[in-house]
Amino acid sequence: MTLTLTLTVSKPADFSGLLITPALAPETVTPETAGKETGDIRSAGGKTLLALGPLKKISTESIRRAGGALARWLAKNNVVAAGLELDGLFGLGLPPVAALNALAEGLLLGAFTFSRYKAEDEAKTCALNLLTSQAGQAELEAALRKAVIVAEAVNLAREWSHEPPNVINPVTLVERVQKLASEVGLKCTVLDDQQLEALGAGAIVAVGKGSNTPARLILLEHAGTTGEKPVALVGKALTMDTGGYSLKTTEGIVGMKYDKSGGMAVIATLSAAARLGLKTPVVGVIAAAENMVSSAAYRPDDILKALNGKTIEIISTDAEGRLVLADALTYTEQHYQPRAMIDIATLTGAVVIALGSIRAGLLSSSDELAEALYGAGQRSHERVWRLPLDEEYFEQIKGEDSDIKNSGGRKAGTIIGGMFLKQFVSDATPWAHLDIAGMMETDKDLLSYAPKSGMGFGVRLFLEYLSALEQ
Ligand code: BES
Ligand code: MN
Ligand code: ZN
Repeated sequence: MTLTLTLTVSKPADFSGLLITPALAPETVTPETAGKETGDIRSAGGKTLLALGPLKKISTESIRRAGGALARWLAKNNVVAAGLELDGLFGLGLPPVAALNALAEGLLLGAFTFSRYKAEDEAKTCALNLLTSQAGQAELEAALRKAVIVAEAVNLAREWSHEPPNVINPVTLVERVQKLASEVGLKCTVLDDQQLEALGAGAIVAVGKGSNTPARLILLEHAGTTGEKPVALVGKALTMDTGGYSLKTTEGIVGMKYDKSGGMAVIATLSAAARLGLKTPVVGVIAAAENMVSSAAYRPDDILKALNGKTIEIISTDAEGRLVLADALTYTEQHYQPRAMIDIATLTGAVVIALGSIRAGLLSSSDELAEALYGAGQRSHERVWRLPLDEEYFEQIKGEDSDIKNSGGRKAGTIIGGMFLKQFVSDATPWAHLDIAGMMETDKDLLSYAPKSGMGFGVRLFLEYLSALEQ
């Protein structure tokens, strides 16, 4: 099912129909509902109650979760129109603007499903009236508008992450991004494999060699208004990662369409930056390639020359993400001299072991940037945890016959990924790396407002980080 949910803020008196009332947990917890207090929906005393959880646990996140659960309930019950009372919710201690924003995000994110390839896909619609005596206030309208743009961006990242590799490859991705860029007002430039080769970007080109659809570097620019140097977001977009000659197992390959999630988060963030009219200039750089096996593919023992002149010895063709990012980072730094550069990538299985699907790995050369990202993660609930980057770790990837090796064995896998990338960023640029491999696939639905795979992680984190720069 696909639910299109339309949200409007209106006065309670203007509404008649199915009325849903948010309520704190003590009014709704029963033996049957205990443990799932937030988002439980039930009828009591002629009312339909949406459980928010206990008062002391009310936060933007608990409201977002309640919104997600409500969206799924509306879809499941084929509700085409309803009203949701907000005045009670607004009295729980959070600023009404923050509560409405979180609720609307949860609703629109919870409505997401990827069902375009299912025969029984039904298009459903629901008009949800958000009812408050404060309706008409400009701040509430602005909060709703912002939530719609942000949620649509996250859902775009999800939609494109889910698309299979026979639909999205580096070449078809370019077509999609160009269309999106012209719709939202972003400048888009694309470097193809021949241009990359001519520049000397031997790492990203090598990764794409085994595919009929070679590597592309996609540049998206949001001009902003401050005249400052841009913030650069760099995303890994492996439209498929088979591992190449260092082939993954049958089970290991399945799901590797999601190896483009970092790149999709960057594309979606840039689209929202344009639609929100952010003041800060932002550039998005997407390193797209497909890691395949063919007689043209790169191999273990190959020595590549990266755009920054360093040579890289291939230990594993499955450590391809760091290769495409190496050239993307060099290119981004050289062309934009960004005030900060943040890459986002499904880079290592090791981060899944370390942090699971709850927090993404954060590695950074800058305490200030790391703290800003940590804070944005706490506020958006897209949380991160920092790992170290001590120089001693470099020993593990010192090349035998080259400058660097692309893999350093099993120890400290996520840190080694970060150490490798660090070799392609100069000390002058504050840089951070987000390893989101744990968010690629989760065992089950962790959140009422997110699918279990391809959840669009990073978009809300980035937008929170960017809007804090404007405060
Ligand atoms: N895309 C994978 C990382 C990954 C693995 C994401 C499992 C989600 C689940 C990446 O390209 C990869 O294969 N990394 C290797 C690196 C190793 C060869 C140094 C890994 O983590 O095993
Ligand atoms: Mn790989
Ligand atoms: Zn990969």
